[in-house]
Amino acid sequence: MCGIIAYSGKSPAAEKLYRGLKRLEYRGYDSAGISTLSEGCIFTAKHGGRVERLRADLGALSGCTGIGHTRWATHGRATDANAHPHLCGRFSIVHNGIIRNCEQLKKELKGLGRTFFSQTDSEVIAHLLDMYYCGDMLQAMLHAVARLKGLWAVAALCADFNGFIVARRSSPVVLGEGDDGFYAASDVHAIVGCAHSCCVLEDGDIAVVTPEGMRVYDSLLNPVVRAFEPVPAECAGGDMEGCPHYMLKEIRQNAAAITDTCDGFFRCEGADGLFKKLARADKIVLTGCGTAYNASLAGARLLGWAYDCPVSAHIAGEYCSDPPRLTTRSVCIAVTQSGETADTLAAASIARGCGAYLIAVTNCPRSAVTRLADFVVPVCAGPEVCVAATKSYIGQLACFHLLAAGECAMRRAGQLQSVAAKVKKLAFDGAYARVIASLCASSRAVFFLGRGGDVDVAVEGSLKLKEVSYIFSAGYPAGELKHGTLALVDESVLSIVLMCDQCLVSKCESAVEQILSRGGKVAVITTLPSAYASVSPRVQAAWLLPQTCAHLSHFISSTALQLVAYHTALLVGRDPDKPRNLAKSVTVE
Ligand code: F6R
Repeated sequence: MCGIIAYSGKSPAAEKLYRGLKRLEYRGYDSAGISTLSEGCIFTAKHGGRVERLRADLGALSGCTGIGHTRWATHGRATDANAHPHLCGRFSIVHNGIIRNCEQLKKELKGLGRTFFSQTDSEVIAHLLDMYYCGDMLQAMLHAVARLKGLWAVAALCADFNGFIVARRSSPVVLGEGDDGFYAASDVHAIVGCAHSCCVLEDGDIAVVTPEGMRVYDSLLNPVVRAFEPVPAECAGGDMEGCPHYMLKEIRQNAAAITDTCDGFFRCEGADGLFKKLARADKIVLTGCGTAYNASLAGARLLGWAYDCPVSAHIAGEYCSDPPRLTTRSVCIAVTQSGETADTLAAASIARGCGAYLIAVTNCPRSAVTRLADFVVPVCAGPEVCVAATKSYIGQLACFHLLAAGECAMRRAGQLQSVAAKVKKLAFDGAYARVIASLCASSRAVFFLGRGGDVDVAVEGSLKLKEVSYIFSAGYPAGELKHGTLALVDESVLSIVLMCDQCLVSKCESAVEQILSRGGKVAVITTLPSAYASVSPRVQAAWLLPQTCAHLSHFISSTALQLVAYHTALLVGRDPDKPRNLAKSVTVE
């Protein structure tokens, strides 16, 4: 959700900023830009479209200090004018976040005779800096951010100052120190390989960075020390390991996400206390967005079977409009790959405000949610570069199994190990996914249907397909189809029916019959040889997956659906790693 990077040091800045922006592109790729500073002059290049477009400009961006930005549009279209950096007077700024009072500020600033060149909220920050600047950049930043309402990570250059300044509230910023200079970035991935140590800025911090060093101040301008630690090696994650796309590489890491998450869980101190908390809870709520919410559905099912209290999953973005009633005995589980999703953080804060115990299930150990949580259950899926979540979802499912197993977690981990071996084989050898993908690619719409736990998989399979292929799809309980949605079924519509629970096969078969009798196309995906034998002669495609018990089958069927989505994206000519209009870390509400 927009990525910012800044550098000040001994080396030319433009190449470093460009490299960092390429690594931040998962946060948005609507437009990109760089400003550099050399001998009191600011040089800027910016374009609508991907970071790649900046490559041709790098030679013209001289200087050893600069700032860069890759954008996920919130205010104004993805045009050159709306691309960051935004310039005003002696300032150039880049911003990640959202300025809620930008309309009032724009009105005030226009009243003072100022002209705006973009439709963004961010441009007001450049004007405020320019307005408050009396030769002291730190004071100007302090006054400017005092006027803002909303979320921001902002980095600014001033033509009079050999360095940059960075301030944050709610949007993340890390500072980094390398052998040849100093960095600030939205995410440590941007500075991996350049910086050897890093620290996370706290809310309200302002850092002044020059080629000689960095100073950090709190919101009252008291100098503060933030703890630096080595840049974690696991953040590298950039290599595609021979795969044509990160999405395929990451699906192939599903098995490792399961086994590494189990290992990570047993390294956590205090897991026994955690099981007691869950066992004594009067209510357990799970919350997340998108894929993390879909994982929460499966988590609520597993925890509901295991613990003797009401368990429910909530879309984080809806949490504040209808918050569940929690007490000091309740447990809230915030599920988020990035740990930075604004809606999930807001929901988690509400739950904490009620006194609930907060567990974070996250793939990013130094993220904002870990600072809010009482206990962090690590998803050890490794960096996920593809915007569509795959292995992190599988890792989240593994966490829920372990939390549900309680004191039998070790035994469950053994079962997860054996399912991981099947997932690995499937991910490397899922040739049949292409057959179903070709049916998807020639369909106007695709329904994903299942019963019981397969519904959760269907909903996530549908999200995966629509986000990477742009084909309309929806995930439904198979029994619901006849209550309205069947009206949409005809020969141009494919229904993918999951059958992984023997007890529910006959119910799914009747949904298959209802679709076939209306001329709809059906592809069945099952872990059950008997179901395969029964339906395969009647449907357009049937895929028999490795067998496993029903409550573990979601690891296998989800991997299959991720492969279907991936191959469909390729068949319809989409870039599966960078779907349009999406970003990996959604830091606005
Ligand atoms: C889907 C996807 C999104 C995220 C959602 C939550 O593939 O990536 O739906 O799952 O934006 O993100 P996190 O898990 O980072 O909170």
